[in-house]
Amino acid sequence: MNLPLLPTISTFFIVLSAVLVAIGWNLIRRRNIEAHKKVMLAAGAAALTFFIIYMSRTIFVGNTAFGGPDEYKLIYTIFLIFHICLATTGGIMGLITIWLGLKNRLEKHRKFGPITSVIWFFTAITGVVVYLLLYVIYEGGHTTSVFKAILGG
Ligand code: HEM
Repeated sequence: MNLPLLPTISTFFIVLSAVLVAIGWNLIRRRNIEAHKKVMLAAGAAALTFFIIYMSRTIFVGNTAFGGPDEYKLIYTIFLIFHICLATTGGIMGLITIWLGLKNRLEKHRKFGPITSVIWFFTAITGVVVYLLLYVIYEGGHTTSVFKAILGG
């Protein structure tokens, strides 16, 4: 199997980020505030790493089209949009949750924390499914970047 380098690395970082959020949640359940803070900030750094790799690839290399059977294209696209919505919501809520934590606004942080965490878990799970559908179960289709599209590539 010939796995593409950048998508494999970026998918690894979303999964790492979700695992760190799970560990961070567990730490706060045991009242370990300092460790909770460190692990959650590490989860944020892993998510940021994913985002930087993903955006660079989208701009410079391009997005890959679904290479599976035509009759699955619609369901794949709906699933992909669902994943993108989860990722966007999770990313924005993650920033708010970190900010509330750092500012010690704990009443709100406690309300946001569990919701953000669960959204982030689903973001990672659906992200892995998109990766599997795009590169592992089926061969990836063609790849076109913003630049290549403008230059007619
Ligand atoms: C990085 C800065 C962060 C700091 C300083 C911080 C700090 C805290 C503190 C002090 C509590 C205990 C609140 C209390 O018992 O009154 C807490 C709870 C919690 N935090 Fe964070 N946190 C941070 C980031 C995050 C992030 C990014 C998430 C999720 C993605 C998160 C999820 C949670 C959860 C689930 C709880 C438990 C809520 C509950 O009591 O059920 N935290 N945090």
